Amino acid sequence: MRKPFIAGNWKMHTSEAEAEKLIGELKPLVKQLQNVDIAVCPPYVYLHKSVYLTGESNIFVGAQNCYMESKGAFTGEIAPEMLKDIGCKFVILGHSERRHIFGETDEMINLKVKKTLAADLDVILCVGELLEEREAGHTESVVESQLTGGLKDLTGTDMARITIAYEPVWAIGTGKTATPDQAQEVHAFIRKWLAAHKGAAVAEACRIQYGGSVKPENAGELLGQSDIDGALVGGASLKADSFAAIVQAAV
Ligand code: PGA
Repeated sequence: MRKPFIAGNWKMHTSEAEAEKLIGELKPLVKQLQNVDIAVCPPYVYLHKSVYLTGESNIFVGAQNCYMESKGAFTGEIAPEMLKDIGCKFVILGHSERRHIFGETDEMINLKVKKTLAADLDVILCVGELLEEREAGHTESVVESQLTGGLKDLTGTDMARITIAYEPVWAIGTGKTATPDQAQEVHAFIRKWLAAHKGAAVAEACRIQYGGSVKPENAGELLGQSDIDGALVGGASLKADSFAAIVQAAV
């Protein structure tokens, strides 16, 4: 049985006061919920405070990105070791906004994944196709090449620390969700790929989140699919009640 994992990706949102308020409201709403992993991913500058604020709670803190070096002359970048140092639990890597706005390649993402694991942090690796790729019938080949590139050289031990997030790019922030069937189809494909390339045990244990306009209204049906083990939530994670309702749906 895979434990569901619901993570809120705040992206470049909230002020410090809003971050504090959001965590303060979320904590009592999810306090009693068990058998689910819950996490928030605030912007870098609020991570330290968020770790402190979630201290005694059942909410983990993750970062939205990191660099693929431990230290050096990389102005403006953040090393995974620094995120570990302040108490982060994991890092989201390969988000479609990193790929498409900031030009991150699978090769770069793979270096980041390895460096993040070496810093003793877990990883959420995002994959997903653009609308034109789906319409051209290329969804599986796109996802396959992102998995092949992003997970290159990773062993079974490494894979135990990795969650995959399937996020069709056309569903992110658009209000357009993949139907539960559309999502399940790709999740099953990802699990099949994992079985073929990383082994049956890895495929069985690996959690695959869905992301893209997840809301309380559609969470239950999506999370009810056999290969959907959680959600990576953007917009709806910025309100404590809607995020908590999604966590509740996972339970
Ligand atoms: P959304 O974002 O829920 O706002 O669509 C999801 C994501 O980008 O992780």
